Parts: sequence; structure tokens; C-alpha cells
Amino acid sequence: MKLRYSCLLLCGHLVLCFPAIWMPAAAKAADEPSGQRPGCPSKCGEVDIPFPFGIGPQCAMQTFYDFKIDCLSSNGSSNKPFFRGAEVTKLSVSDGKASMNMNISTYCYDSSSGTTKTRGASADFSDSPYWISDKDNKVVVIGCQTLAYMQINFALTGCVLQCTEDFSPMNGVCSGAGCCELDFPNGTWYYNSYFNENYNNSQIWKTNPCSYMAVIETTAFNFNATYVNSTIFYDTYKGVTPLALDWIISMESCDEAKRNTTSYACISGNSKCVSEPKGGYRCMCNDGYEGNPYIKDGCKDIDECLDNTTYPCNGICKNTMGGFTCSCYPGSSMMDGGSIGLVVFVIAIASAWIIRERRKLQHIKQQYFRQHGGLLLFEEMKSQQGISFKIFSEEELQQATNKFNEQQILGRGGNGTVYKGLVKGNIEVAVKRCMTIDDKKKKEFGKEMLILSQINHKNIVKLLGCCLEVEVPMLVYEFIPNNTLFHLIHGNHGRQITLDTRLQIAHESAEALSYLHSCASPPIFHGDVKSSNILLDANLSAKVSDFGASILAPTDESQFVTLVQGTCGYLDPEYMRTCQLTDKSDVYSFGVVLLELLTCKKPINLFASEHEKSLSVRFLTAMNGNKLEEILDEQIKNDSNLGFLQEIAELAKQCLEMSGANRPSMKEIAGKLDTLRKVRQHPWEEQNLPELESLLGEHVMVNSQVMSSTRNFSIEENVIMGLKSGR
Ligand SMILES: *[C@@H]1O[C@H](CO)[C@@H](O)[C@H](O)[C@H]1NC(C)=O
Ligand SMILES: *[C@@H]1O[C@H](CO)[C@@H](O)[C@H](O)[C@H]1NC(C)=O
Ligand SMILES: *[C@@H]1O[C@H](CO)[C@@H](O)[C@H](O)[C@H]1NC(C)=O
Ligand SMILES: *[C@@H]1O[C@H](CO)[C@@H](O)[C@H](O)[C@H]1NC(C)=O
Ligand SMILES: *[C@@H]1O[C@H](CO)[C@@H](O)[C@H](O)[C@H]1NC(C)=O
Ligand SMILES: *[C@@H]1O[C@H](CO)[C@@H](O)[C@H](O)[C@H]1NC(C)=O
Ligand SMILES: *[C@@H]1O[C@H](CO)[C@@H](O)[C@H](O)[C@H]1NC(C)=O
Ligand SMILES: *[C@@H]1O[C@H](CO)[C@@H](O)[C@H](O)[C@H]1NC(C)=O
Ligand SMILES: *[C@@H]1O[C@H](CO)[C@@H](O)[C@H](O)[C@H]1NC(C)=O
Ligand SMILES: *[C@@H]1O[C@H](CO)[C@@H](O)[C@H](O)[C@H]1NC(C)=O
Ligand SMILES: *[C@@H]1O[C@H](CO)[C@@H](O)[C@H](O)[C@H]1NC(C)=O
Ligand SMILES: *[C@@H]1O[C@H](CO)[C@@H](O)[C@H](O)[C@H]1NC(C)=O
Repeated sequence: MKLRYSCLLLCGHLVLCFPAIWMPAAAKAADEPSGQRPGCPSKCGEVDIPFPFGIGPQCAMQTFYDFKIDCLSSNGSSNKPFFRGAEVTKLSVSDGKASMNMNISTYCYDSSSGTTKTRGASADFSDSPYWISDKDNKVVVIGCQTLAYMQINFALTGCVLQCTEDFSPMNGVCSGAGCCELDFPNGTWYYNSYFNENYNNSQIWKTNPCSYMAVIETTAFNFNATYVNSTIFYDTYKGVTPLALDWIISMESCDEAKRNTTSYACISGNSKCVSEPKGGYRCMCNDGYEGNPYIKDGCKDIDECLDNTTYPCNGICKNTMGGFTCSCYPGSSMMDGGSIGLVVFVIAIASAWIIRERRKLQHIKQQYFRQHGGLLLFEEMKSQQGISFKIFSEEELQQATNKFNEQQILGRGGNGTVYKGLVKGNIEVAVKRCMTIDDKKKKEFGKEMLILSQINHKNIVKLLGCCLEVEVPMLVYEFIPNNTLFHLIHGNHGRQITLDTRLQIAHESAEALSYLHSCASPPIFHGDVKSSNILLDANLSAKVSDFGASILAPTDESQFVTLVQGTCGYLDPEYMRTCQLTDKSDVYSFGVVLLELLTCKKPINLFASEHEKSLSVRFLTAMNGNKLEEILDEQIKNDSNLGFLQEIAELAKQCLEMSGANRPSMKEIAGKLDTLRKVRQHPWEEQNLPELESLLGEHVMVNSQVMSSTRNFSIEENVIMGLKSGR
């Protein structure tokens, strides 16, 4: 009504043509009962019966399903709607819900006859439009000496209740003391309830006369301790509990349904089809419309201007089809001040908008922060003082990296970009900006960063902090200036890399991995050990990096695939078979890094012949054919140190064992490399025997610390032999 009125005011001379268009529609709507076919009752007793439901066959929709509702009067009382014997209390078109009263199943001891009486309860909604809602219902059992179970579709579920001496049921708590509840599975159309006869109340009937089982709408149930020792439960609900149902028009999907225009049910204008997750479809009015989408012209425009609580408008409200507009009152200041008033108004609106957007942004940031486990991190940090880990704001990092300037990029990986940055004016950092990771991973992010932040090892790149308030988290690491080991070996032609430097890098990397495996709690498996993940500082000291990705990664198939792509040539063959990342996977990859150091060759050479593609295969072939010499890097190969190199090669070979169990642990490897370094650091050629002996004593000591019972290294003998042959 108001719509027409405002139109009169606003449209002036157009007023005459409007009633001509609008009146017939209005008149037609008037003699059609709302939401029902013409001539069909829209109510049964107190309950609305909207189409497609109907009383009698000609009023109900005919699809594969039966939408017929029985409207019965029992015992002269007022009419009530029923479906297959159950009383219907709600049928709703707008949300596709329905509600019915279902019998409570009872199991009561009758002292006069000395028998136990059962009233079963079941429901069967097969071949009907209704499903039992899994979200809105649960199964409850009340009793003290009972085993109640329920067949739901083809599955059984149930619980046993036995009251102990000191049992005390608590109001509102249904978890084993006199009451138990079970979730309802989804996709349910059938249930039947049973009580096991070996449990009954014959011994306790004076205090516990009955056991009950019911399917009940979750919001309608609140356990009361008196339910256990009385019939109050049954009486309160008058023997029936409300059951929440979902309904659909037919089992077809929207696309299928739309193909047959004669049977497609969403016939009202301004209506749409919605597919249900369980299958099938139902209809809805478009936004801004309400009414019944299943009848012609059933969806009517909502006059938002009549309801200024749901649709607030502090001005002139004007209804439109499917919406409304809200314009300001023609206030006096605007009339007088003219354009100035308008400008002030625009500014006010604009600043209000900016403030709102800012708030929204703030809100979003906080949400990301929470998603990434920021709160968890804060909590943890409060309890563990002394973590030198900082949470950076997005602004700080933008400033540090000159707004993520291209020129600041240090490297790009499959998972993100690393920028060089300066924080607090002079501290160099590397900011890693990850590509989007999925929601599940985000939640675990904070916790895993906490683990990383606690790692403090001189050969592991230090995580200084992170930024959690952006959609994708950013990590801030200490800046390591001299590129990666990969770059040193493969990207830097002609430059001498001494054997000592190589040994140092190998040893330090091994120490770092050993620390991750044995000292971190819980142990951390790097998962992506390769020369390009070993950074080098100004002294060419190794800093293992990029272990964040491996911890984030679950061991599922998707990760399996990406890893194969990402680190071809380093991958543990056992991991490829089992998909299970272990410490020994890192050992295998480390073995490949050792090979790179020994041979200066890349782990995979795509241009080589089939047999030579993989460095590890080439290496193992060479080792087995006693041709190690051929594959070693010319730079370090030397008549006097072949035995020594053989020793390193032997270690690499052990790392590359097919079975993880046969590979040494990272701790053992680090110990061995340490020994080898110590041997190197002594001036061999000039050494005389007594000094050598004292040196050996030292090795034995080092090794006894390192050797865990499983493996047996005979390093000293080999070193001496290498030494002797070298002489
Ligand atoms: C029928 O109505 C009478 C009187 O109103 C009542 O006493 C009786 O219990 C009712 N019977 C049923 C089955 O509801
Ligand atoms: C509920 O139980 C009564 C008997 O107590 C029975 O007559 C009625 O059919 C049952 N209702 C349903 C829906 O099973
Ligand atoms: C109650 O259960 C016991 C077994 O637990 C059985 O021996 C007895 O007959 C049952 N009594 C009744 C009335 O069902
Ligand atoms: C249960 O619900 C989930 C998600 O809503 C769905 O993927 C699954 O198919 C449903 N199961 C049945 C039996 O309907
Ligand atoms: C429990 O039921 C008794 C009896 O019906 C009632 O007096 C009491 O208020 C109920 N308590 C709660 C917490 O609902
Ligand atoms: C039933 O149990 C409730 C709560 O445990 C208690 O308050 C009440 O006195 C009991 N009633 C009888 C009759 O035992
Ligand atoms: C379309 O639906 C009508 C009514 O259900 C049915 O009679 C007809 O066979 C259907 N047409 C097709 C092509 O499926
Ligand atoms: C709508 O708002 C006006 C003032 O803006 C108020 O007087 C009136 O009571 C409101 N109407 C409703 C239905 O809330
Ligand atoms: C990207 O991250 C996933 C796990 O988050 C990891 O498995 C994969 O190896 C990474 N890819 C690259 C190229 O680093
Ligand atoms: C480290 O890199 C700097 C330049 O960034 C270079 O001057 C220096 O020689 C490098 N140090 C080593 C040991 O390679
Ligand atoms: C490099 O080595 C020198 C001498 O041992 C030392 O003073 C310096 O701190 C080292 N630099 C780094 C970055 O470790
Ligand atoms: C062999 O290596 C030693 C030290 O590693 C070096 O002094 C010697 O010159 C090398 N000999 C050759 C032939 O490269």
C-alpha cells in the first residue's frame, strides 16, 4: 500500500497509469489464499499448510513424492495435521523445514504383573519428501539399568546406562549419569528403537520405574535430574518429542529439474532453485521477495519500508522491486545552504564509509591473526618467557621491504617470494611471503612457527618473527648474505672450493639436521634437504633453511606429488613408496648433498643418457665398480687424499641405502663428519706416529659418544689405511 502512496507523491502525473497496472494483480492476490492453491485450505487447525503440501490429493503437489497431509479430528477436538500417523506441527516453505511429533519409546517395569512393558517407537520416511535432519536432532536415552539401541537406516547405535551407588545426575548434563545422547547420522529416513531384555528395572523400579529413548530436536531437550527417577520426562512431553525434518521437492538436481518445464516446481517469478547437499532440490524466492515459490506469482516483493527494524532507513524510504532505496530528508540546511550542504553531506558520508572500511579491515586482520593461531602463539609466549620472537605488523614489513619492491627480491620459490628487508633501520632480514595455503594448514601455522621460533642453532637460519595479520602469513628470517650451497657449487664457475670448506659445510649441515631430529621436541623432519636450502654466511658457514614447509606439510598424496616436483633428485625412494616422511628421508637427501659436494655435479642431469641422469645412480654404479675416482670433482681429487675421499663417499653410500633402516642417523653422520674434519685439520704429511696415536685416542672418544648401538663405523681403521696408502 505504501508503495503506491509514495509513487503518487513522487511521480506526479504518472499516477493514473499506475493503478491500472497494479490493481488487478492486487485484486487477484486477494482471493488466493496465501501460499496455497485456489480453493484449497491453507490451514489445518493451527498449522499452516503451504503448497506443495495439501490436504487431499487435488490440493497436494504430485511428484514422485507424496505431499498429502491428513487433517484429522480426534475425539471431537480441533483438527490436527498428520503424516503417516505422526502429528505435523510445522511446514515451512522458506527454509525447507518441517517438524513432527514422534513417540517416545518406553521400557517400564510393572510391579503388579512382574513384567516389563515396552512401547517401541519408529519412523519411516522412505519414499517421502522428508529427511530426518542430522544437525537439528539427537538421540537421548534416559535410565539406570538399560541397554537401549536404535537402528538408523541400516546401522545400529546405542548406549548402556548403569547407575552406581554414588551416581548423581546433574541438570543440563547428559553424559552418562542417568542420561546419554548420540548424534544423529545424516541422510536418515528410518529409525526403530529397541531395549535389550537383559537389562530391566525389576530390581530398582521403586526409584527408577522406566527407561526412555527418544529422537528429539536438540533445542527442545534439556536434561533434568528428576527424569531418571520418575515419569516426569514422559509426562513433560506428553509422550511425544519434536523431530526436525528437512524436505525436498524431488530427488533431481536443479539442472535436471529445469530441463522438464512441466514438472519444474519453482514456477513463481522471482524464484530460484536450490540444490540440497543430500540430493534433490527445493525452491526459494529471490532476495527481496517473500512468499511461496511453488505457486504462480507466489513470490511477492517485500515492502521494506513497512519494517524499519529489519530494514532501517533514517530518511525517505522508497520501496523498489526486490529492494528499496533510502534517501535523505529534504532538510532545511540543504534547502538554504545549497551546494555547501551537499558537500558537507558527501564528506560526512565518505568519511563514515572510510571509517567503516577501516574497521572492516581491522576486523579482517584480526580474523587472519586468529586463523593463523596468533592467539595460541601469544598465550604460549606469555607462559614461556625469553623467546626472542617478534610478531611484525603488515605495515612494518611493507616498510621494511619498500612495499615488497621487485628489486628487494632475493629469490622465488614454488611457495613464495623472499624479499630482503631492513627493520628498525639497520637490521637486515629476509621476509618470506608465502603463497596461499589452505584453511586447515593456516590453523596449525601458529603452533608450528612456535616450534621453529624456539630453535636456536648456529647452523639453522633463525626465524626472527612473523606476520599473522595478512591473508597469507609472512615469515621473517635473519638475512644470510652469501647465497646457497647450490649456487656455490653449480653457479660459480672456476672458483676454488677447498675440500676443507666442503667438509665444513657438510658437517655443519649435518649438525643442524641432527639437532632437528634429536634435540627438537617434537622432532622436526626437514623433508626438503637440498643444496639450495643450505644458505651460506659471510664465512661460508652453513645455515639450513626452509624447513617450515616440511613441517606444515601433512603426509598425504597431494604433498607427495608436490614434493616429487619440487626436489627431484633428492627424494628418498622409500618415501616415494610409503608416502611417510621420516628422519631417514632427510638422511637420504643429505646423502645426495654429499655427492654434490664430492662431485660438483647436479643431482639430476636431464640431458644425460638414461643411465647417467641421476647422480645417485651414477655414483652407486661407480662405487660398486670401484671407479669412484672417475666421478669425483677434479678440484679436490688428489693422489694423496683418495683414501680420505673414499671415506666420505662410503658415508654418502650409506645415506643412499634403499631401506631407511639401513641408513645411519643424522647424529651418527654428524659425528663421522666431525671426525673426518678433525683428521683433516691436522697436518698429515708431517705427522709422526706418537702424535697420530694421540689423535686416534681422540677419535675413539668422539665416536663412542656418537655411536648408538645400531651401527658400527670403523672409521679409524679406514682413515689410517687411507693415510698409509696415501704415504
Ligand atoms: C476423548 O475425549 C474425552 C472427553 O473430552 C476424554 O475423556 C477422553 O480421554 C478422550 N479420548 C482420547 C483417546 O483422547
Ligand atoms: C505412537 O504410539 C501410539 C500408541 O501409544 C500409536 O497409536 C501411534 O500410532 C504411534 N505413533 C506413531 C507415529 O508411531
Ligand atoms: C530382568 O532381567 C533379568 C536378567 O538381567 C531377567 O532374569 C529377568 O527375567 C528380567 N525381568 C523382567 C521382568 O524382564
Ligand atoms: C553427510 O553429509 C556430508 C556433508 O554434508 C556429505 O558429504 C555426505 O554425503 C552425507 N552423507 C550422507 C549419507 O548423506
Ligand atoms: C526439573 O523438573 C522439576 C519437576 O518438573 C522442576 O520442578 C524443575 O524446575 C526442573 N529443573 C530444571 C533445572 O529444569
Ligand atoms: C529424584 O532425583 C532428584 C535428583 O537426583 C532428587 O532431587 C529427587 O528427590 C528424587 N526423587 C525421588 C522421588 O527419589
Ligand atoms: C516431464 O514431467 C511430466 C510430469 O511429471 C512427465 O509426465 C513427463 O514425462 C516429463 N517429461 C520428460 C521429458 O521427462
Ligand atoms: C519507523 O521509524 C520511525 C522514526 O524513524 C518511528 O517513528 C516508527 O515508529 C518506526 N516504525 C516501526 C514499525 O518501527
Ligand atoms: C610448497 O609447499 C609444500 C607444502 O606446503 C611443499 O610440499 C612443497 O615442496 C613446496 N614447493 C616448493 C616448490 O617449495
Ligand atoms: C660473501 O659475499 C660477499 C658479497 O656479498 C663477497 O664479497 C664475499 O667474498 C663472500 N664471501 C665468501 C666467503 O664467499
Ligand atoms: C666469521 O668469522 C670471523 C672470524 O672467525 C668472526 O669474527 C665472524 O664473527 C664470523 N662471521 C659470522 C657472520 O659468523
Ligand atoms: C694434494 O692435496 C694437498 C693438500 O690437500 C696439496 O698440498 C697438494 O698440492 C695436492 N696435490 C695435487 C697434485 O693437487
